[in-house]
Amino acid sequence: MNTRRKFLKKSALISSIGGLIGLKSKVYAINPTMNTSNRPIVISTWDHGIPANLEAWKILNNGGKAIDAVEAGVKVPEGDPNVRSVGFGGFPDKDGRVTLDACIMDENQQCGSVACLEHIKHPVSVARLVMDETPYVMLVGEGALEFALLKGFEKENLLTPETLLEWEEFKEELKEKRSIINIENHDTIGMLAMDVLGNLSGSCTTSGLTNKLHGRVGDSPIIGAGLFVDNEVGAACATGVGEEVIKQAGSAMVVELMRNGVHPEDACKEIIKRVLKTNRGNKDIQVGFLALRKDGIFGAFSLMKGFNFAVQDDTGNKLINSPHF
Ligand code: GLY
Repeated sequence: MNTRRKFLKKSALISSIGGLIGLKSKVYAINPTMNTSNRPIVISTWDHGIPANLEAWKILNNGGKAIDAVEAGVKVPEGDPNVRSVGFGGFPDKDGRVTLDACIMDENQQCGSVACLEHIKHPVSVARLVMDETPYVMLVGEGALEFALLKGFEKENLLTPETLLEWEEFKEELKEKRSIINIENHDTIGMLAMDVLGNLSGSCTTSGLTNKLHGRVGDSPIIGAGLFVDNEVGAACATGVGEEVIKQAGSAMVVELMRNGVHPEDACKEIIKRVLKTNRGNKDIQVGFLALRKDGIFGAFSLMKGFNFAVQDDTGNKLINSPHF
């Protein structure tokens, strides 16, 4: 089937799904982040999303599956020692140990997750195997490491000389203080993608809060908090202080609001409002959400200024500043 016919067939399918769930009947405000093309798209948090999107796009643009794209995409920052908040080169905990959290979710609501995993450069791929090859959703700590080694992953030292130096220099200063999360010092990569069939998937991976207590797990590996995908409605992911995201069941709530017809950006904004309320108006913490609706329309919102996200579709790959309070 030629590409145009494939697109027409897909558009017809998605428009009938959209009709069923009431998406197409709504009129949305003009928004610069609108994409009504129903073509493949990948969006991800922060500027490390730009190279991650490019990798994911190689798969999406060749008709590949969204689940493969979101795994391949986030492996780019996981493997980059200069990204200090994800994977190899991620900042260690108070004990100087790099502990990683990641999860992945597909269009059939299958999901896998690992938390507090040490020595494995690509936790997202371990999460994928938890999803594909076990009856479980989540493995943690030593058990997750044992599983990874059993599956042939290599045990590596994830602490680079540069990160070790920074940790030794700053650990006292960072004691009991949550580091500022912004464009220069960001955290998680969350990625959401829609493939040529209109199927949605997502992934999320991080080394978590800088200088965290050993054993602390944030939102990123928690399905419904750091990531949620419902193929009938849309997908969402989170970044920022994980505890605040968990308290709101953040990503699941964003998807639920979209199910009720709320625009992706407004859905993200509503959950940020709830974070603000829970913290009695304290705007000194960063939390951001990113959402992709089933029809390709996306949106984001963050509590503080300084959250940005990358969007790749067939018009290119660009970085967008998130609206914020
Ligand atoms: N959002 C990443 C974390 O809190 O661990």
